[in-house]
Amino acid sequence: MVKKIVQEGLEAVEKQLRDIVKSDVDVLQDAGLHIIRSGGKRLRPQLGILAYLAAGGQDVARVIPMSAAIEMVHTATLVHDDINDHSMTRRGQITVHARWGRTFALLAGDYLFTKVYELMAPYPSEYNVIMADATTKLVEGETLQAAAAKAGNMDRETYKTIISRKTASLFEAAARMGAMLADAGEEMIEALAIYAYNLGLTFQIVDDILDIVGDPDTLGKPVGTDIAQNRGVMATQNGGLAVQEAVAELEDDPIARMMANLRESGAIEIARMQAEETAVRARNALTTLPLSPARTEMENLIEMVLDRQN
Ligand code: IPE
Ligand code: IPE
Ligand code: MG
Ligand code: MG
Repeated sequence: MVKKIVQEGLEAVEKQLRDIVKSDVDVLQDAGLHIIRSGGKRLRPQLGILAYLAAGGQDVARVIPMSAAIEMVHTATLVHDDINDHSMTRRGQITVHARWGRTFALLAGDYLFTKVYELMAPYPSEYNVIMADATTKLVEGETLQAAAAKAGNMDRETYKTIISRKTASLFEAAARMGAMLADAGEEMIEALAIYAYNLGLTFQIVDDILDIVGDPDTLGKPVGTDIAQNRGVMATQNGGLAVQEAVAELEDDPIARMMANLRESGAIEIARMQAEETAVRARNALTTLPLSPARTEMENLIEMVLDRQN
């Protein structure tokens, strides 16, 4: 039953995302629809809907624009992130910048970001403040990551700060707003926020592991990019610039060699333990919630994030 409600909610989110990118400026509409139609796991809007249901919400329509706004932030970020990371594929398709060029990709990303205002407009100011805070953190996280990669000082503390801001903050915002829209009490809102925040950390650590061990076809995006660009969880195990120096010393296909070395070094097992740790925090946060099918779905999400291959 709850699966069906979530499914219908996600369909409504999908419709809203497609409708809202319509424009008589063709390239904005085409690029927007291109990335939206490419798929994606829609994990963040799912969190908004599930948090609402777990907190006792009855009218899913209330969380649809907010969940679409959260996914729109994420989508806009991906368009810009793929420029910065020089990625040519995303969600199994050509990236916006690879197809339309950097200028239009920057503008398409801006366009998608502005649509967040429109989607959030019906909500009271406290929701808009949460959204603004999450998007600020996201940009700060991406910026801190670029700075740390450039300076070669990606230690564990810095890595944690980066993933907390660039990924976990948006997960948290989705669940927090979902719970608030269900008129949940303070304690329940916090529990759901802590759950989603830790799920976000887990998600990003697993994503960084997949950058080393994943299959690019299954992932729908390139692998090895973190190593090539001196970032991600593996950079914390190798000490910044040392990675680039090592790469420079290796000859044929240095990135593939670095990936192989990392796979053998035990670094992945360490990262995996970190992911298990944040997953435990997510699981613990849920124990304070009343039992419900939505809570069970949220528990299942933790396992899915830990086990995911794409
Ligand atoms: C990709 O997010 C960016 C990261 C936070 C690692 P997702 O893996 O959720 O991307 P889609 O939406 O499913 O494509
Ligand atoms: C994606 O980050 C953007 C944000 C999380 C804000 P990454 O660069 O780490 O993720 P992928 O590998 O491109 O999806
Ligand atoms: Mg990136
Ligand atoms: Mg990237």
